[in-house]
Amino acid sequence: MSRVQTTKRKTSFICFFFVVWYTTYYFMNNNIFSSEKERLTKIRLSSSLTLSSNTLSTIYNNDNPLEELNMRFCGQTTCKFLFVYDYGEQETKANLHFRSFSQLAEKLNRTMILTNVGSSQINICQNYPFDFYYDLKLLRQEFPNVIYKYEDDFYLWLKIRDEIKKKMNYKKDNEIIPPLSILHSHLRRYDITTETIYREVKPVVSLNKCLSKFEPFMNLVDPKNSKVRYTIMDIAKSDIRPRAKPEFSELLVESLTTDEEIMLVNSFVLEALFPKVMPAIPYNDYILNEAQKLKDKLSSSYIAIHWRLEQARPELLPECAQGLIKTLKRVMTEEGIENIYLATDYPLLSSKSQSDTFKDITNYHHEAIRMLNETFKINTWVSLGGLEDLRKDKNYHSEFVGPGLQGILDKLVCIDANYFLAGSFGCSRILSTFTKSIEDERKDKIRNIDSGILNTIDRWKIIL
Ligand SMILES: *[C@@H]1O[C@H](CO)[C@@H](O)[C@H](O)[C@H]1NC(C)=O
Ligand SMILES: *[C@@H]1O[C@H](CO)[C@@H](O)[C@H](O)[C@H]1NC(C)=O
Repeated sequence: MSRVQTTKRKTSFICFFFVVWYTTYYFMNNNIFSSEKERLTKIRLSSSLTLSSNTLSTIYNNDNPLEELNMRFCGQTTCKFLFVYDYGEQETKANLHFRSFSQLAEKLNRTMILTNVGSSQINICQNYPFDFYYDLKLLRQEFPNVIYKYEDDFYLWLKIRDEIKKKMNYKKDNEIIPPLSILHSHLRRYDITTETIYREVKPVVSLNKCLSKFEPFMNLVDPKNSKVRYTIMDIAKSDIRPRAKPEFSELLVESLTTDEEIMLVNSFVLEALFPKVMPAIPYNDYILNEAQKLKDKLSSSYIAIHWRLEQARPELLPECAQGLIKTLKRVMTEEGIENIYLATDYPLLSSKSQSDTFKDITNYHHEAIRMLNETFKINTWVSLGGLEDLRKDKNYHSEFVGPGLQGILDKLVCIDANYFLAGSFGCSRILSTFTKSIEDERKDKIRNIDSGILNTIDRWKIIL
């Protein structure tokens, strides 16, 4: 066989490969689009894929396809990503952490991946794109210097990079495109240390299993696919106090200033990372509209109760219910309010509680809720028909087993209540960021005389 023939074969092989890949991509893309469209009619999520087939052929025909791909994705010839794949904690806190890492992405000049959401968390194992909870337009306004990409976009970038790599590295030992360079870092508040320590560690063997959803295009244990460096930062409690934060955040930025293309972060930091705490990321419009619908149904005025039964002493609960009933009667008479809205982790839909950490539901719990329910008409997000379309849709089933969207809905309804009651010590969990965030919002709103808001927060007492 002559050299010309071999080259011809190779070329046709590459062409054939490209056609197969392109066709696969085209159909995949269209499938994603049609399912996206079905969702649009209900909750109007934005489409996450940003590359048209025209764009793709431009990338492929470029002399340096990888640079072209990166320009399109990240606006720079090299892409550098910050992908915090687990934010730890539930939505109110995860929301705070997401803002901290957006500040970090800006400082590090990295494109930030919008980790999936669901079950009141932001992490890679969840099923729904980021805008299932949040308003991306307002997020981008809050952080105009950060480029945000969905997990789907990241997957697409990995996939196209991999194809380009295969195409350019087709000869043996021809390494034009190197393996992915990855830094995997675990950031955790670690109360045992008295000073913050950042160190290299051996490869982590038990990585989060959901990282495998980017295989085969990102595979942390295949050296041909990626070169991974592992680090841990143990953050001392004293370093993350407000006064220590300017210095701490500098250390953080300095430690994480690296050349790796992809920074994967597993985070459990508990506090804001930077001195400036940015305002909460607003929720998606469909959630706000749903909350408005509930508020309208509660007509002109209502008392909202936040009763988190987790961490209550079960045997106290019936007395707690009596205390609540007495307080409600007083407020209703004094303020002339007739409607009651209950936000609770007590199971309203299924037998599973609305908090992950709340497992043992006893007869005391049932008794307390029954007493309340027999005395007043108790409205909840379920009884008022909140999120009915989504609840009927089996694609969203997992969101309504345990904690999820309904927590956001409850929070929004509580924030605007004319009167707000939360459980006292023994009756409920006291140190709740969820309750605190409602209290903070109400503090702002009560300054406006027309808001109709009568108190910030009151805690009812047990009757013994
Ligand atoms: C971010 O990176 C790009 C490309 O490397 C560079 O042109 C730009 O100046 C950087 N911006 C900052 C704020 O460092
Ligand atoms: C209150 O009682 C009504 C009627 O029996 C029931 O449909 C509703 O689910 C109860 N509410 C709660 C919060 O248990």
